[in-house]
Amino acid sequence: MNESNLSVLITEGEIKSRILELGGELTKRFKNEKDVIAVCVLKGSMMFYSDMIRTMNVDLQCEFLGVSSYNGTTQSSGEVKLTLDLSTPVEGKHVILFEDIVDTGLTMNYMKKNLSSRNPKSLTTVTLLFKPDALKTECQLDYVGFKIPNDFVVGYGLDYQGFYRNLPYIAQVFNLN
Ligand code: IMP
Repeated sequence: MNESNLSVLITEGEIKSRILELGGELTKRFKNEKDVIAVCVLKGSMMFYSDMIRTMNVDLQCEFLGVSSYNGTTQSSGEVKLTLDLSTPVEGKHVILFEDIVDTGLTMNYMKKNLSSRNPKSLTTVTLLFKPDALKTECQLDYVGFKIPNDFVVGYGLDYQGFYRNLPYIAQVFNLN
């Protein structure tokens, strides 16, 4: 893997300790609740999600949601599509949505609207990364791992044209293409 055009933004250790903090907060919030569904947004959240749910001392069920908006480029197409739906109804259940990154906010708002229409008992949003300067619409988030500058990043699940997801850290990419 060519790592010469990457600059580390968040180290593996920083990710681990932030996940422990977030896991503790979510455990406090949900440990006495029944019917908790943790939703992983594919593909980018896979690592964040699997690390997060292992730090949460909560009885939960796992579900997966697929959405696409980027078409392999570094710019959102602005058009969000559901590519994989949950396998179970979430009506009356506590849904926790795990996203890798909120950039324009369009994807998160689309998912919130879509899931809310299924009448969950609660809907909680958790994002590993948030780029406040890239927002194109108001987007309310419950838990944020790290606020980052408006630069394209890869690693720890996040990709550029399908690559770099397996890096254990998050890096800015320069000289794309
Ligand atoms: P939004 O709809 O613009 O907020 O984009 C959300 C989705 O775009 C995320 O789930 C990511 O898949 C992708 N995305 C946004 N910014 C980045 C980035 O810097 N690197 C990799 N993927 C990104």
